[in-house]
Amino acid sequence: MTGVLSSAMSPMHTDPENRREQGRPATSGLGRRALLATGAALAAAVGAAAEPVANNSRPRRGGAAPDTSPIAFHGLRQAGLTQPQLPAAHMLSFDLPPTSVTADRETLRNVLAALTHTLSTAAAGTLPEPRLHTGETTRLACVVGVGPAIASRLGLNVPPELADLPTFPDDRLDPARGHGDVLLQLCAADRWTPTVVAELATTAVQSAGAVPRWTQSGFLPHTAPGVTPRNLFGFKDGTANPDEPTAQRWVWGPPGAHQNGTILVYRRIHMDVAGFAAIPEDRQNTMIGRRAADGIPLTGTAEHDDPDIYAKHPDGAYVIPATAHVRLSSPRLDRGARMLRRSYNYDDGPNDRGLLFCAYMRDPALFTRVQNRLAARDALLPFIEHRASAVAYVLPGATPNEPLGHHLWT
Ligand code: HEM
Repeated sequence: MTGVLSSAMSPMHTDPENRREQGRPATSGLGRRALLATGAALAAAVGAAAEPVANNSRPRRGGAAPDTSPIAFHGLRQAGLTQPQLPAAHMLSFDLPPTSVTADRETLRNVLAALTHTLSTAAAGTLPEPRLHTGETTRLACVVGVGPAIASRLGLNVPPELADLPTFPDDRLDPARGHGDVLLQLCAADRWTPTVVAELATTAVQSAGAVPRWTQSGFLPHTAPGVTPRNLFGFKDGTANPDEPTAQRWVWGPPGAHQNGTILVYRRIHMDVAGFAAIPEDRQNTMIGRRAADGIPLTGTAEHDDPDIYAKHPDGAYVIPATAHVRLSSPRLDRGARMLRRSYNYDDGPNDRGLLFCAYMRDPALFTRVQNRLAARDALLPFIEHRASAVAYVLPGATPNEPLGHHLWT
């Protein structure tokens, strides 16, 4: 066994199993540099199609000055996924009351056209809405998707992988806070912009024939560029995310109609924040498999080191324990398949705080595999409860001539 350690803080070794691909970390040492180089070449080759999968957690070169430039609504991919995560999020879900397939297809077309118009003018700062004229540049990033139920009912051209999730053990899902035919996420630097735009978007889609189903607001701490935000358990959340070449394989669709689309899995997860906070920090660290203080994996020396789930202590025990969250969610257990996590925290009163888990992937079967492992033995289980769920096909971006979802009808 080559993965034996002399101490938990010693440099880790990796056993041969680890060296076989199994999701060789996109974020470690030479492999990561090589991948970034490949990514740069690829981006140059395919131009705008390879807009980066930006995330707060990914180190950026240059100064740390916050970006104040407007965020373009149009693009091959929706800006809500290509921009670094903005700290305030507002999610909205709408249903289309079923009538006939022909009429409902027309309604959905109108809803998506209305959203495209409202969101593009809001992002451009040209909406005649005094509440948005703050004297500062509007920075709004949106994600719009359609749910699996309406896609199958209306025979839409969506990825074949789009499907609702199975039920998992201990799910306590409130249907009124989940699912939906059209899903919208609005993100900005603070709550003001998403709140106002949500109101305008709701008016627009209601006029087009949709009805509101649920809304949910979320937030992140403001962090310097490149610094991973924390969740309410105090841990950095979003560290191990794929870089662009890895995301092209596992997050975005294959070449064709869906290549700039992806599938969102949303879970509203209640967290017992006080109960978790009462646990000693070293125990918290072994429950996650990373250190709360700096996000460094228990087997590494830097935040973006890949957790080595095969490394062992001299006594044969795994350094990252069997029930640790990052072991059970490790891409090594999924042949390297990765999801892009861009979650938000929520606070809905003293008895309900938690995580709006938002993960994007080509095939939501990945979520199901990971969640089945987590639901069986994740050390976090006594402190969390899944309370709502939604899946949506995140549409490719709109162009000035083609609204969101223009390819759904072919
Ligand atoms: C409240 C619930 C959850 C909390 C507090 C939580 C927290 C964390 C933390 C702190 C990390 C390590 C830092 C990072 O890489 O981002 C992490 C990693 C991860 N989590 Fe969660 N998580 C939760 C739910 C979930 C769920 C439901 C899934 C999917 C079914 C999931 C999938 C992952 C994955 C894939 C990783 C990265 C593993 C790796 O590549 O090393 N998490 N999570």
